[in-house]
This record gives sequence, C-alpha cells and structure tokens, in this order.
Amino acid sequence: MRMSRASRGDAEAGLAEGPGLAEAVGEILERLRSLEGPLLPILHAVQDRFGFIPADSVPLIAKGLNLSRAEVHGVISFYPLFRTGPPGKRTLYICRAEACQAMGGAVLEAHAKRALGIDYGGTTADGEFTLEPVFCLGNCACSPSVLLNGRLHSRVDPKAFDELIGR
Ligand code: FES
Repeated sequence: MRMSRASRGDAEAGLAEGPGLAEAVGEILERLRSLEGPLLPILHAVQDRFGFIPADSVPLIAKGLNLSRAEVHGVISFYPLFRTGPPGKRTLYICRAEACQAMGGAVLEAHAKRALGIDYGGTTADGEFTLEPVFCLGNCACSPSVLLNGRLHSRVDPKAFDELIGR
C-alpha cells in the first residue's frame, strides 16, 4: 500500500508543469520501459514522483512506449487509483474491508463523502483533503479505521470523523 503521495511541495507541483517534467518522465521511461508490460509501472512511478499523472506526461509516455495517447488515457481512467490532478494537503483513507464494514464503515463512508463533498479519489475544493479507500489498515479490532496523513484513528464514527477534519 503506497501512501507517499499525500502531499507534495511547491517545487514538485511546479515541476509537474515546467520543463523538468520531460526530463523526469524520460528518466522513468528509461528505467522501466524494458519491463514486461511497462505502462502500469511507469504510470505508478510518474504518480509517485508528482503525486498525480500530469496531463503533459501522457504524450511523453505514449511516445516512449509507442502507444497512442488514447491507450495511455484509457489505462489511467480505468484504474481509480491513478490521479489526474494534484492531491489535497491531507489524504484521508477510509478502510473498506470486512471488519470495518461490519462495524459501521458504510455509514462512515457515506458521512465522509457528504461532509467533504467529494467521492473517493476526489479532493475538496479548498485543496485541503483527498479521500481514498483502503482495504484493511491492520486495525480490525478497533473498526472502523481511518488513516489521516499517516496517523491511524480507531472506532471512527461520524462525530469523530467531523472532529478529525475540524468541520
Ligand atoms: S478491516 Fe478495517 S482495519 Fe482491518
């Protein structure tokens, strides 16, 4: 489970739009293109680097792998974990696995989406929170579990959730 893309600095945000993008994507292509089925690892590497997959990286990846842009776009849009915009300052993971679901996880999910005004994969309009699903945080005995910026929270009900996000 990767959680390193919670937030990125201004330097990387600038890099995602600036001339350094081609260099960074070129380095990733160079490193990974010889793998069997290189597109997914390359997309993961680009997202790990920038926190999302910048639109300008798509033609570079397509050219580097001799694919069409539509093929690269198709893969990005097929997998919900690929992000096409920068993440919020804080990433909030809600556990969707069995134990948490049995202890009110579905109610918590619905509340979180309503309170933040976003669905999974979305970022609040103020850029503060990104909401992501996760499947088991290893905290099943204290369900439902939430991870906020790397810190685990147990037995989170809607009220506790509101306190967590300060709303
Ligand atoms: S099922 Fe949610 S922490 Fe394990």
